[in-house]
Amino acid sequence: MKKKGYLFALFMSIVLVLAACGTSSEKSNSDEEGKKKLRVVTDAAYAPFEYMDKDKIIGFDVDIFTAAAKEAGYDFEIVNVGWDPVFAELENGTADVGLSAITINDDRLKSYDFSIPYFESTNKILAPEGTDIEKAADLVDKTVAVQAGTTGADAVDALLGNGNEKVKKFENNNLAILEMKNNGADAVVADNAVLETYAKNNPQDNFTVIEDKEGFESEYYGFMFPKGSEIVEDLSEGLNAILDNGKYAEIYKEWFGQEPDIENLKA
Ligand code: ARG
Repeated sequence: MKKKGYLFALFMSIVLVLAACGTSSEKSNSDEEGKKKLRVVTDAAYAPFEYMDKDKIIGFDVDIFTAAAKEAGYDFEIVNVGWDPVFAELENGTADVGLSAITINDDRLKSYDFSIPYFESTNKILAPEGTDIEKAADLVDKTVAVQAGTTGADAVDALLGNGNEKVKKFENNNLAILEMKNNGADAVVADNAVLETYAKNNPQDNFTVIEDKEGFESEYYGFMFPKGSEIVEDLSEGLNAILDNGKYAEIYKEWFGQEPDIENLKA
């Protein structure tokens, strides 16, 4: 009896050791596939998508990328470099991914690759309550603050004319809002969720958000990559996986308090 018990224990330990070897060799295999640690660059001044919480970068984008990268089997670090450097780093190949509520558009597609879209957005107008601005076209004789190099800046340039000094351009969106707070601008144009989050979190500023569906186009965010990057497919598949398995919806609800329109993203 005793001997049988001993043999059984020995047998079980061998089974356990083999099982452990199995999982560890799986792990080292994925490293052998050459999945290096990704450098992900961002401009963390764009709540709720990416912003600083003390010394930590958090936001909807961070959670979505984390989930998609996990599905795709990538390790990564997110670094807050600022908006223009996001583009510069991808251009010269020092970073692997741009994660910054970046709108996929024709101009950028000439120089960069993008994942499938992960968020629908549109520009809106932030202005002091009581403003006479009702639509985009009303901005033509106003002073407007924007983050330089964004689709919001493009939209305002198109309305007021390139080089118009009434378009004040800032390195990040928080500085554009600060300019309006200091009475240096009549309005700020930026992505809807960002302006809505700001207005909601800063009621003492008495700012209101103005929508103009005809005046501003619908846009889609994607992860941005250097042109020809070999990891685009993997990360797009990761995104697809979390769109399908409910993780995307879970994260979306955490940040926006409602169900996402996933079909719209897939279309
Ligand atoms: N979606 C806009 C664009 O792509 C603005 C993005 C700004 N993002 C940021 N993290 N500052 O131009």
